[in-house]
Amino acid sequence: MSKIRAKIAGIGKYLPERILTNEDLEKMVETSDEWITKRVGIKERRIADEGVYTSDLARYAAENALKNANMAPEDLDLIVVATVSPDMYTPSVSCHVQKYLGAVKAAAMDINAACSGFIFAVSTASKFIETGTYKNALVIGADCLSKITEYKDRSTCVLFGDGAGAVVLTATETENGVMSCVLGSDGAQGDCLTIAGLRVDEVEKERRPFGNPRTIWMDGGAVFKFAVRVMESATREVAEQGGVSLEDIKCIVPHQANQRIIEGARKRLGCEEEKIFSNVHKYGNMSGASVPVALCEAIEEGRIQHGDKFVIVGFGGGLTWGSALIEY
Ligand code: UT7
Repeated sequence: MSKIRAKIAGIGKYLPERILTNEDLEKMVETSDEWITKRVGIKERRIADEGVYTSDLARYAAENALKNANMAPEDLDLIVVATVSPDMYTPSVSCHVQKYLGAVKAAAMDINAACSGFIFAVSTASKFIETGTYKNALVIGADCLSKITEYKDRSTCVLFGDGAGAVVLTATETENGVMSCVLGSDGAQGDCLTIAGLRVDEVEKERRPFGNPRTIWMDGGAVFKFAVRVMESATREVAEQGGVSLEDIKCIVPHQANQRIIEGARKRLGCEEEKIFSNVHKYGNMSGASVPVALCEAIEEGRIQHGDKFVIVGFGGGLTWGSALIEY
């Protein structure tokens, strides 16, 4: 019997309509469009309305992906959501999505690997498909970071936005689909990027002089160095594992945190600019949603076409990193 693979049957995204521009932020904290554009490359980001949470964003992206795949919710065997900003500890965002969609047959779970989460989720779902356990899986990356961002802290509030992206993976016996995945974690460096849960200790309090302990804190410089390094190594490793050279890869879709990180990784890989997809200027860093939204737009814009091999690669809190080589 030929090998079963997980191929992309459909893609979808959802971005809230409300836009927060650099000019808006200039009125909120001591920052400038010039600083943000030069140091990070972001011009604007999307912000969910009050009362709209991660599972709402996830659900809308999922509906678009199912429509694109021409598949009904009842066909789904598995729903995996990558998020660090769940509406509730339980039920999970994936269970909320299952309820909204009426995907009665599906097992549903969330994965927390921060900004690398969507890649961890794709890897997990594809293993269930490759082993023959499940046929159809919905994989979503969704985050509503505006609800855990401190808008008095200029070192973080200019970076983040809200959104969701989704893919439907389905079993295939042809050659295309997920070819290889690389996942990695370095918990020893986890202190570089934190969002408090139950534990709000003195260290976490001191990091947040503005008072709200449940907001994002990070050592930007440390994450920056780590990011450039692992984006290069994870891309090289996943290509090697899949038996392809960097020249065989049509497009690299990286996590969208900072244009300078994307550019640093590109230079280390020795790739031409056209090979790397970026939309960080439009949405900022949407954590788990960044990679699937970027992937969705790369496909919509024709940067990835059927038969092309591409890489998704990311890094984030944990610290974590991951990459996947996929033939579309
Ligand atoms: O998805 C994973 C999560 N995180 C990331 O990917 C983030 C990785 N890190 C980064 O992208 C960058 O480190 C940042 C964008 C966070 C910061 O850029 P940087 O070039 O590392 O700047 P910096 O933190 O070294 O700050 C440089 C200066 C400082 O002023 P002084 O000390 O030189 O006087 C900051 O206070 O820029 C100042 N600064 C700002 N100025 C205007 C920091 N934030 C701002 C701001 N507007 N928003």
